[in-house]
Amino acid sequence: MTKFKEIRPEEFNYNPFKLIGENWMLITAEKDGKANTMTASWGGLGVMWNKNVAYIVIRPQRYTKEFIDSADSFSLTFFNDSYKEILSYLGTKSGRDEDKIKKSNLTVVHNDNTPYFEEASIAIFCKKLFAQEYKPESFIDLEINKKCYPNSDYHTLYIGEVTKILVLKN
Ligand SMILES: Cc1cc2nc3c(=O)[nH]c(=O)nc-3n(C[C@H](O)[C@H](O)[C@H](O)COP(=O)(O)O)c2cc1C
Repeated sequence: MTKFKEIRPEEFNYNPFKLIGENWMLITAEKDGKANTMTASWGGLGVMWNKNVAYIVIRPQRYTKEFIDSADSFSLTFFNDSYKEILSYLGTKSGRDEDKIKKSNLTVVHNDNTPYFEEASIAIFCKKLFAQEYKPESFIDLEINKKCYPNSDYHTLYIGEVTKILVLKN
């Protein structure tokens, strides 16, 4: 029996500022039958092109970027506080250097071929719609450019259509 139930985006009653900015999330995608994941605390949930969407941003050096670029979909998973140390680990080590998922003891499961984690308390599944790298000339607040990109490693913005939301059953 699965511990998750599907809810409609309209029923999603979480504060995205807290959920993403404070609790953090894992961005996970699969390439050639292998999953990689990374922690993220920047992004958003909203509405674009008449669709419910999630926004994420990924710097070029992240191994996860290769997975997101080659996949049609990705998941965003959210965990309770007891997983914070694991999220810190997954956000400081690269899957290029070690088998992070194995070491984290998280369990990869799939929904319609998109990987996520059995231990999550919320899973949001997204179909990729849009990708664009941030450009230095697009910054109106030049301080952000200076502060966040001293190495010119500009994020790529991905917008994904929210195709499914799973939360824990009561
Ligand atoms: C709290 C936290 C938030 C992060 N947010 C992002 C983010 O939004 N975008 C990003 O590119 N990297 C972010 N990172 C950094 C990646 O998670 C980190 O570089 C990770 O090791 C990349 O793993 P990978 O090379 O296996 O993809 C964050 C790290 C932490 C700890």
